[in-house]
Amino acid sequence: MGFDPWNPDFVAYPYRVYDELRREAPVSYFEPTGQWLVARHADVNALLRDRRLGRSYLHVATHEEFGRPPEPEFQEPFWRVIRAGMLDVEPPVHTRLRRLVSKAFTPRMVESLRPQVRAIARSLVDAYVDKGGGDLIAEVAEPLPVTVIAEMLGIPEADRHLLRPWSADICGMYELNPTPQAQHTAVRAATEFSDYLKSLAADRRRKPGDDLVSALTQIDELTEDELVGTCVLLLNAGHEATVNVTGNGWWALFRNPAELARLREDRSLLPTAIEELMRWDTPLQMFERWVLEDIEVHGVRIPRGTEVALLFGSANRDPAVFPDPDRLDVGRADNPHISFGAGIHFCLGAPLARIELMESFGALLDRAATLELRAEPEWKPGYVIRGLRALELSATG
Ligand code: HEM
Repeated sequence: MGFDPWNPDFVAYPYRVYDELRREAPVSYFEPTGQWLVARHADVNALLRDRRLGRSYLHVATHEEFGRPPEPEFQEPFWRVIRAGMLDVEPPVHTRLRRLVSKAFTPRMVESLRPQVRAIARSLVDAYVDKGGGDLIAEVAEPLPVTVIAEMLGIPEADRHLLRPWSADICGMYELNPTPQAQHTAVRAATEFSDYLKSLAADRRRKPGDDLVSALTQIDELTEDELVGTCVLLLNAGHEATVNVTGNGWWALFRNPAELARLREDRSLLPTAIEELMRWDTPLQMFERWVLEDIEVHGVRIPRGTEVALLFGSANRDPAVFPDPDRLDVGRADNPHISFGAGIHFCLGAPLARIELMESFGALLDRAATLELRAEPEWKPGYVIRGLRALELSATG
């Protein structure tokens, strides 16, 4: 089996294939998506920082100039929302949008949220353990980051159940070659989400509260599309990967019981354990970049107008950077994993994600004397966004 993101066996364990790619074909052309796969840590890291590449090309060229077909008209509402957020634009627009919200996400700012995050984590974990366990994803992993980011933005509690389905449907578009049905679902979700946020912003403009949506409505230089795009991005990016790190991370610990025991015994390992869980089973396996000027990687010329697929999951298992990379080592000290990206789009929410993960893993370790797997979990079919469908556990207090 080679690189095959539509094959469930590959999705379940892509790491053998990555070993081969890193060794034998660090840069290779993947016909089905027309992308260049990049497998080694040093190359992924360098290309993320290379300004000759971009998340978009629309600031320097048209679809036509890049030899791309125009986007189907029905997708317009989707791209309107997505391209108004910082993740899908390049400087100078990126610099401006990121500056406007970065104050809310500095390490100091999010550290002040820790007591609130802790309280939410504890109450979810208490309820979970009291009832003897259940699906950890639905009952702890999802509600924690959704509640935290929804509170930061000021989404009323009664509406929060809408966020997960909208986000999941929008994310369907980020898989490789999405089906027409997935595309339509994503467009519908983007439209509904956007209408919802416009009406919320109108309320907050009239009657501001102490939340991020209210603060954004007070910024004159932000257009309405940019306000909506920023909120959609924060709400989606603000929970999607954290949910998967929690599920993938616990599943990794169950498959490595000696490491789980080590962590139970020495709780000071929690910070390095979280980083290691993010490295060992990378929640976002791949990110793409457009080549804006010809580049050369390992003697391979990659021309302007093509796309590279940076294999984060492979970079995170590169033996040139991580000694004994297939070993899960909760005490791994030197761990420059790439799971939060690098360069100008480096994850804005990394400090918040780290707090959420520390608090949820910490609360479960504290509160559950035993945690046992009830059934072997299944991976969701997507390759790019790597996560479990459910994680059924028995818990005792
Ligand atoms: C463990 C959880 C998380 C992971 C693994 C993760 C990963 C990433 C990665 C890899 C990128 C860069 C994508 C690229 O370069 O193409 C990114 C960007 C971003 N993330 Fe996260 N993220 C996580 C949690 C969060 C949270 C909690 C937030 C909360 C607000 C957040 C907000 C963002 C934003 C706004 C961007 C865009 C930054 C920019 O374009 O300048 N993320 N994230």
